[in-house]
Amino acid sequence: MAKFHTLTIKSISRPTEESVAISFDIPTDLKNEFRFIQGQHLTLKKDIDGEDTRRTYSLCTCPLDDDLTVVVKKLKGGRFSTYANEEFKPGDEIEVMPPHGSFYTELDPENEKTYVAFVAGSGITPVISILETTLRSEPKSEFILFYGNRKTSTIIFQERLEALKNKFLGRLSLYHILDEERQESDLFNGMIDDEKIRVFANVFFDPQKTDEFFTCGPEPMMLAVRDTLKNLGVNEKKVHLELFTSPVGKLGTTQKEVEHQEAHSEITVVLDGNSITFPYDSKESILDVAFQNGADLPYACKGGVCSTCVAKVEEGEVDMEINYALEPDELERGLVLTCQSRPKTDKVKLSFDV
Ligand code: FES
Repeated sequence: MAKFHTLTIKSISRPTEESVAISFDIPTDLKNEFRFIQGQHLTLKKDIDGEDTRRTYSLCTCPLDDDLTVVVKKLKGGRFSTYANEEFKPGDEIEVMPPHGSFYTELDPENEKTYVAFVAGSGITPVISILETTLRSEPKSEFILFYGNRKTSTIIFQERLEALKNKFLGRLSLYHILDEERQESDLFNGMIDDEKIRVFANVFFDPQKTDEFFTCGPEPMMLAVRDTLKNLGVNEKKVHLELFTSPVGKLGTTQKEVEHQEAHSEITVVLDGNSITFPYDSKESILDVAFQNGADLPYACKGGVCSTCVAKVEEGEVDMEINYALEPDELERGLVLTCQSRPKTDKVKLSFDV
C-alpha cells in the first residue's frame, strides 16, 4: 500500500514568478517505491498552522532520469501552494506518498505514433514529462503540443520546451496560445476553445491519424477538447484527461448527483496486510467512516480527482458517486475511490494493498 514517507527537499527553483519547482532526495531504500511513470503525480502532506494539509502535484521530470520534481503554482488563497512558494527551502522535510495516477499510455520503442496535447498553465507539468519521455523512448513517434498561457512571462518550462524542440527536431511541434499578449497570427491569440481546436485539427494534425490525445488544464478547456474531438470522430478512449482541481462545470455531467440515504453495512478494510472491521451506519463516504473508526487510510483531495484513496473491492458492492481519476479498465478490475464510495451490500471488503 502506498503510504507517506518523509523526504528531504533537495533543491528549489522558480520556473516562473508564480511557481516553485521542488526536487526531492530519495534515500536508496526508497528508490524502488518512488519509481514513476510519465504523467503520474505525488501527494504531499504538511502540517500548516496545525492543519493536516494534503495536495497532489504532477511530476514534471522524465522517469528515465533520477529526478523527482513537482511544480507548485501559487494559487490565490491556496494554503498549500502559498506555503510551498513562500516557505519551502532545501533541507526541509515533508511527507510524500509514492507516485500514482494513470494519465499515461504504454510506450514502446517500436511505436510510430502521433501524440497531440492541449494544455494550459500549470497543466504542462504532467504533459512535459509525457512528452519528453515519449520522444526519448519512441524514436519514430512525434508530439504536437498546443500550450495556452496568459502571457510569455507566465509560460512554465519555456526554455526546456525550446531545448526539447531543438533536440527532437521535426518530432516536436510547439504552438503557444497567449491570452493577454498579441501574436502575429490571430490563431494563436486568446484561449484554447472548440473553435481553435477545430482549426488546429484542420491545419496542424489529422484527428483520425492521431494515436493519443492528452489534455490538462482548466475544466472549460478540457471539456472543449473532449467534446470537439468527439465531434470530429475521435474515439474517446484515445483522449486522456487529467483534472487538477475538483470540477465545477460539466466534466461530470454523466455522474450522479444524489441525495445520500443512510446505509447499513459491515466494512472491512485491508491495509498493509492488516484488516479492521467496523459497522457502517451512515451517509458518509467509506473513507470518512473508516477514519472515524481509527483506520489511517490514504487520501488527498476527497473530491474523486486524485486517486490517492483507491482500493479494490474484494467482497460486496459499493456505489461510487464521482470518478475523475480511474480509467475504465481500472473500474473493471474492481478499483474504486473510497472517498466517493458508499456500501450497497450488507458486507463490503476493500483492500488498499493494490
Ligand atoms: S482522495 Fe482524491 S480521489 Fe479520493
